[in-house]
Amino acid sequence: MQPAARLSLLKPSPIRAITDGTPPGAIPLGLGEPTWDLPEVARKALLREPGPCAYVPHAGLTELRRAVGAFHNAHLDEVLITTGSQGALFALFQAWVNPGTKVLVPDPGFVAYPALARMAGAEPVTYRLSADRFRLNAEELIRALDATPEASAVILNLPSNPTGGGGDPTALKRVADACTARGVLLISDEVYRDLHFGVRAPSLRDVTDRGVVTSSVSKGWGAPGLRVGWAVGDPAWLVPARTVHGYAVTGTATPAQWAALALIEHSDTVLAEARAAVQLRWQALAEALREELGHAVTPPDGTFYHFMSLPPAAHADPLAFCLKLRDEAKVVLIPGLAFGEGGRGHARLSFAATPEQLREGVRRLAPYWNN
Ligand SMILES: Cc1ncc(COP(=O)(O)O)c(C=O)c1O
Repeated sequence: MQPAARLSLLKPSPIRAITDGTPPGAIPLGLGEPTWDLPEVARKALLREPGPCAYVPHAGLTELRRAVGAFHNAHLDEVLITTGSQGALFALFQAWVNPGTKVLVPDPGFVAYPALARMAGAEPVTYRLSADRFRLNAEELIRALDATPEASAVILNLPSNPTGGGGDPTALKRVADACTARGVLLISDEVYRDLHFGVRAPSLRDVTDRGVVTSSVSKGWGAPGLRVGWAVGDPAWLVPARTVHGYAVTGTATPAQWAALALIEHSDTVLAEARAAVQLRWQALAEALREELGHAVTPPDGTFYHFMSLPPAAHADPLAFCLKLRDEAKVVLIPGLAFGEGGRGHARLSFAATPEQLREGVRRLAPYWNN
């Protein structure tokens, strides 16, 4: 049996190469998901009075679209509710990326972007981030755009998975204008924007009314399992994406949309509590890195990822090094190479784990950096 030819370029997620086969007792600093409780407002919203659990419109529950619109300063018809932000990205790529075109993706960047481009029959082309702290570098991106006349879409991710690097509004505006001038769809993945350390990364919506923002309740609102995300932008971009999403999944689970509505209505407290949880974890991690490894670290612009430098000896084969950490030290880290060649000298450490796990994890890692 042969799967469809369009899957021939699709490889399994390189993150799986590390996380599959995790030994018992290993400390999971690999996956990027909150370890704090689902906020109470969402738990309560899932418990409803007797009544049907019906389909809702394909664009999503109207009250939820209104709440997401208010959060992003957008009208109701500029909001499409999707199955996680992954559902929004999939639908946008299928709706707007033609086979044979190219999609500009960050390197290092979220592993799904190149795969989504390939599933649309397009070729991912990487652009580099700034050499210091992996932030958005408008010159690099515009240079890549100039060199890629077949570009149909560009994807940004501020702050970034895996690096935590953000960007400034001037750079964002330059990139947005360059995409508009070339008629290229700009998608700004802002799923980590509310997990910041004092300075919130700019939103695409702060600098232009073109392009599409994607986000979800998975990170800042602490609810990845609800699978509720959205796309916000000009309805002209969203309507074809809604058709794709409708045929793919009909709609996001109705109870999950009730819970997401409660979370967004309580954004002030829910997001502040999430930032406090992340800050607490960062402090535990930074202290452990200083004491055990002698690393002086500063927090990322946002996210719960520390993009950790690997010892020079590990640069030739970072996957082998991280497998050794997994199997001998029993700590799971993701090699930066999994996110693109630009991540070769680093590993992604997720500090969404508990403070105890972070302290113990770094204690176990220390011999591999200190020798
Ligand atoms: C940068 C980035 N974008 C999008 C997603 C998709 O998340 P979700 O579908 O849960 O919103 C993730 C998940 O890890 C991510 O890291």
